[in-house]
Amino acid sequence: MPNPPVPPTGVPVLVLNGPNLSLLGLREPEVYGTHTLADVDELCRSTAAAHGLRADCRQSNHEGVLIDAIHEARTAHRGIVINPAGYSHTSVAVRDALAAVELPVVEVHLSNIHRREAFRHHSHVSAVADTVICGAGAHGYALALTHLAQLLEDNR
Ligand code: DQA
Repeated sequence: MPNPPVPPTGVPVLVLNGPNLSLLGLREPEVYGTHTLADVDELCRSTAAAHGLRADCRQSNHEGVLIDAIHEARTAHRGIVINPAGYSHTSVAVRDALAAVELPVVEVHLSNIHRREAFRHHSHVSAVADTVICGAGAHGYALALTHLAQLLEDNR
C-alpha cells in the first residue's frame, strides 16, 4: 500500500506575487532577470524550510484576488512576503488589506524601483510593511524569507 501523504510542516507564511510576475524569465529580462516564477517559488520554499517556515506561494494578476489572499492570511498564515508589482504604485486597497490583517509584512521588488521611472519611486505598500527589499533580484525573496523568520522569532 502506498504511504499516506506527509503533511507539510513549518510555520505557514504567504508569498504573494502581483500582476505580470507570472511572466518572469520572459518579461524584460534585463530588468527582472532570467529566473521564472517557478524558480522563485522553489527558492522561497527551500529558504522558508531552512528557517522552519512553510511558504505558500501564490500569484495573481487581479487586485481583488490578491486582497482575498491577504484576508485569508489573517487566519491561515503567520506573515507575508509580497511583491505587489504594479499595484505597489497604485493600490490603496492592497495597502489597506495588509494594514487590516496585522501580520508581519516584507515587501520585495526584484528591481531597484528608486533607480527607475519616477512613478515607481513611491509604493503605497511600504508604509505598512515592516521591511522593504528592492534591487536584489530573485535573491531578494530569499532575503525576505530569512528576515521574516527573524521577525517571527523576535515576536514570539
Ligand atoms: C516590481 C517593480 C514594479 O515597479 C513593477 O511594476 C513590477 C515589478 C519589481 O519586482 O521590481 O511589476 O515590483
